[in-house]
Amino acid sequence: MSLRAIRGRLLTFLRAPQGAGDAQSYSYHHDGVVLVADGRVDALGPTAELMARIPPGTPIDHHPDALILPGFIDPHIHFPQTQVIASYGAQLLEWLEKYTFVEEQKFADPAHAARNAEFFLDELARNGTTTACAYCTAHPASAEALFSAAHKRNTGMIAGNSVMNRNAPPGLLAPAATAIADSRDLIRRWHGTGRQRYAVTPRFAITSTGDQLAALGALLKEFPTVLMQTHLDENVNEIAAIKNLFPDDASYTAVYARFGLLGPRSLMGHCIHLTDDEIALLRDTRSVAVFCPTSNLFIGSGLFDYQRLKTAGVRIALATDVGGGTSYSMLRTAAEAYKVMQLQGQNLPALAAFDLMTRGNAAALGLDGEIGTIAPGAFADLVVLDARATPAMAHRMEVARNLEEELFVLMTLGDDRAVRQTYIAGEPALNEERTSVALSSEIT
Ligand code: GUN
Ligand code: ZN
Repeated sequence: MSLRAIRGRLLTFLRAPQGAGDAQSYSYHHDGVVLVADGRVDALGPTAELMARIPPGTPIDHHPDALILPGFIDPHIHFPQTQVIASYGAQLLEWLEKYTFVEEQKFADPAHAARNAEFFLDELARNGTTTACAYCTAHPASAEALFSAAHKRNTGMIAGNSVMNRNAPPGLLAPAATAIADSRDLIRRWHGTGRQRYAVTPRFAITSTGDQLAALGALLKEFPTVLMQTHLDENVNEIAAIKNLFPDDASYTAVYARFGLLGPRSLMGHCIHLTDDEIALLRDTRSVAVFCPTSNLFIGSGLFDYQRLKTAGVRIALATDVGGGTSYSMLRTAAEAYKVMQLQGQNLPALAAFDLMTRGNAAALGLDGEIGTIAPGAFADLVVLDARATPAMAHRMEVARNLEEELFVLMTLGDDRAVRQTYIAGEPALNEERTSVALSSEIT
């Protein structure tokens, strides 16, 4: 059995915080240890109690002063958009045509896909993200590249090839039959292979005919543990186009409902311009609304109304949406979520943000218990955070009074520089730990 102990300030959430100061929502050990056996959490607790149970010779990674949390989870990101991020001056439909579809066509080349898969996974790890739910392109080689790279690293990814059969360049389209055959083949090869999972991925209703959406709905039914990801109500011109393409449906959400694409495994990206009826549809089907703040601000799509959806009982996740989103960092994403909410007179307590990035997003993906918490049996996917990573952070931290304030400093000022180490199934994923104080030592 392979053992490792990871020591520091342990923080993991038990349930969604009910507001700032909800100390019952999390478990915290000021000096704690996670004992990892064969990639999973075997035990955790105060160092003084647990040390006696750790077999002699077990390597100990000690991160004094750092916070150890479950690795971040990014439930909406585009693997083929690592060279689309930071594209200037357009809103959604023009942005897709001018930049996104151009880059995505390059993923027909398996070598390009493979190189980008390594970059993508490196960048996620640098930012402390240990699981992501990713869109690939229509080329099966793109999903294949991402899955095989993730499988080699033993990092749990969810991915699917973006299916389109209209309103995009011919190089990105696949007729319904081919798209379904490709998706089914990828599901058989990768869904449940190691830590990999598949998500059926209609890009959005603009780029699929009703026939193709129906076939994807049937595919989702055929595989009851496969997830589904798509975009919904992101941009007003997108919604107008949907009205023209599906004139008989009451709403954009109703289109997805008609084709069997809503449900507890369905991740609906953006959900900004929803009517009350659409919100009721999402709630009643237990679908997840995915809040992508950096993207919504950057592409100028609008403000996600977190409180309205939460009050209505809609499940909510938080994601980067790179490359419409502008940062791979879930910390930056939480900072922008906070600002989007401030603009609407709402608040995002640091506890709620960190819960969302970890346990909450895992629950949205139906993976609670496996990832998102530090708990016996869960994968030891961890992020080690340093709230004093930059001069501005260290200076601000001089007057921080408690854990919650430290978390707020991390989410407001932090980024990849605050990530000292990322563990994937108990193994360090970063070659160089960004620190001068963390030490690896051995118990003798
Ligand atoms: N809607 C359809 N495709 C996309 C995409 O790639 N990014 C975003 N933000 N919205 C979309
Ligand atoms: Zn997206």
